[in-house]
Amino acid sequence: MRTYRWAILGCGDIANQLAQAMGKAGRTLYGVANRTNQKAVEFAEKYGVLKVYQTIPELFTDEAVDIIYIATPHNTHSEYLKAALRQGKHILCEKSITLNATELTQAQRLAQESGVTLAEAMTIYHMPLYKKLQERIQRGDLGRLCMIQMNFGSLKAYDSNSRFFNLSLAGGALLDIGVYALSFIRWFLSEAPDKIISQVKFAPSGVDEQAGILLMNAAGEMATVALTLRAKQPKRGMVVFERGYLEIYEYPRASRAVVTYTDGRPQEIIESGNTEDALWYEICDMEQAVSGAGNEMHLDYTADVMSMMTQIRQAWKLYYPEET
Ligand SMILES: NC(=O)c1ccc[n+]([C@@H]2O[C@H](COP(=O)([O-])OP(=O)(O)OC[C@H]3O[C@@H](n4cnc5c(N)ncnc54)[C@H](OP(=O)(O)O)[C@@H]3O)[C@@H](O)[C@H]2O)c1
Repeated sequence: MRTYRWAILGCGDIANQLAQAMGKAGRTLYGVANRTNQKAVEFAEKYGVLKVYQTIPELFTDEAVDIIYIATPHNTHSEYLKAALRQGKHILCEKSITLNATELTQAQRLAQESGVTLAEAMTIYHMPLYKKLQERIQRGDLGRLCMIQMNFGSLKAYDSNSRFFNLSLAGGALLDIGVYALSFIRWFLSEAPDKIISQVKFAPSGVDEQAGILLMNAAGEMATVALTLRAKQPKRGMVVFERGYLEIYEYPRASRAVVTYTDGRPQEIIESGNTEDALWYEICDMEQAVSGAGNEMHLDYTADVMSMMTQIRQAWKLYYPEET
């Protein structure tokens, strides 16, 4: 497989993690663009990035670039996705990939027209553990899937200007951390849920700071989600089958699951992959998909999750400025 030239848009926390993941594998990013150009210059020096773009549009039109990794706040994704897809770039976009299902459908249409790969950087879909668990579940001895329970609590000091609480930056618990819980759920459910109810508590800035969500699909598989931006909770997922349950901690980048059987068999530990290599697994899967080697980026699951989040926010009447 050929080596692809990656460029990154954004120089914040996750962009640094991606550059480090590439560096660990002996690779470097080809290009970088950022709203504040000086930070792009410093980022390029730090990670040996070859090219710094003076403006963001220059990144989209550079013919040397194959894959763009978008690492800016949620509300900026749709505009950048469209601009890059129109230039025929493959895109790996940070979560949440768009604000709502309509924006994602538009981006999917453009990707199809340009014949390129569009994907969300959802670590869960690329950690080796989850692929191994699917194989384990297929053996059938756990029985039918009954329920999934998810927690995610992140203690953030309230700051109406931060991307976590700012409505204008599409903040809130659902798009920031709920997207992980719902992606985990979608990975295990046999089909997307068609029934969703929820409760929400709003922060003074108007974003969702705490929520409880209850989902069910046509097969009768159910899931519950407890989210908060104002308290710590374990990042814990529990997948309950007729004859046992899986428990996974730190599930966005998990490498270990415990299987407890309820029919007397001894507990089983399933391990695969390394938490610290989470972004590298995404990079590898993306390059395989771009090369046509057929590795699945699960944009269909991303679309199901975006549809769930759109319905949930509609019920809350929580709209971002771009949507009003
Ligand atoms: N941090 C994580 O652990 C993590 C994990 C997974 C996913 N993510 C996702 O990654 C994305 C970025 O998160 P982050 O934590 O890396 O954020 P961050 O550290 O705050 O960095 C944000 C980056 O986006 C740029 N930016 C901010 N507002 C912009 C705007 N209006 N237009 C263009 N560029 C803008 C910033 O540029 P300036 O330098 O000009 O401010 C900066 O480069 C989000 O979608 C988030 O959900 C983050």
